[in-house]
Amino acid sequence: MLEKIKDSAAYISRFLDKEEYSIGIILGTGLGELAEAIEIKHTIPYAGIPHFPLSTVVGHKGNLLLGKFGGKNVIAMQGRFHYYEGYSMQEVTFPIRVLHELGIKQLFVSNAAGGVNPQFLAGDLMIITDHINLFPEHPLRGKNIEELGPRFPGMTDAYSPRLIRLAEACGQRLNIPLRHGVYAGLQGPSFETPAEYNWLRIIGGDAVGMSTVPEIIVARHMNMECFGMSVITNSTASPELIKTSHTEVQDMGNKAQPRMSALFKGIIEAL
Ligand code: HPA
Repeated sequence: MLEKIKDSAAYISRFLDKEEYSIGIILGTGLGELAEAIEIKHTIPYAGIPHFPLSTVVGHKGNLLLGKFGGKNVIAMQGRFHYYEGYSMQEVTFPIRVLHELGIKQLFVSNAAGGVNPQFLAGDLMIITDHINLFPEHPLRGKNIEELGPRFPGMTDAYSPRLIRLAEACGQRLNIPLRHGVYAGLQGPSFETPAEYNWLRIIGGDAVGMSTVPEIIVARHMNMECFGMSVITNSTASPELIKTSHTEVQDMGNKAQPRMSALFKGIIEAL
């Protein structure tokens, strides 16, 4: 694994033009448009990077974007790997290992999520303050690679209090209301039953989605500083609203893009 990480990083590092890159962004739902706000210097298709998982989904974007955003050098992942697509947890999180090897210290992640907290409305933005890992497989299962991180990494402060404070200040300055909450991550791909949404609320979730948690666990294993934000695409609290569809998730995700991009830019500028 270590060899593969180094191989991938060696390939990508040729595009860094000897500059330092310390900020990584995963452009999940709600941040696709952010790609257009990056002054892109290089677009590297995943398909050309040694050992990167192969994207099997037709029309799915799979590129690393290298460029300037908010005045800083950033590496953005345009397209992520979901567990429900059939990738192993090692594959889902491989790009995070590579980003770390390239010198990335801060990881910014976005996603779409169902609002489990009854006060949340579709279209709300939520700062992720913590998560509940409900995936059936753990990305750190198996022999630990000591060079990467400890066998038993802590997960308190998985979401950096410093970055959360910066996000709050940025939300106030830009007049963008922000929710705070706990993201419950599970495998999907089916949306949840009413009983499951209810259970997620009982166990302490505010939002639910099918990504992010494995990536954050692996990033924290390597001591990267993490920030996550969810677009609440559907409220799951009332029986009339509960019929979740992929189209609805995408529409709401798109609507949130300008707000989400502005916030991420503000936070990165303030770093
Ligand atoms: N459940 C799981 N993932 C999601 C949802 C949901 O209701 N909405 C957006 N992503």
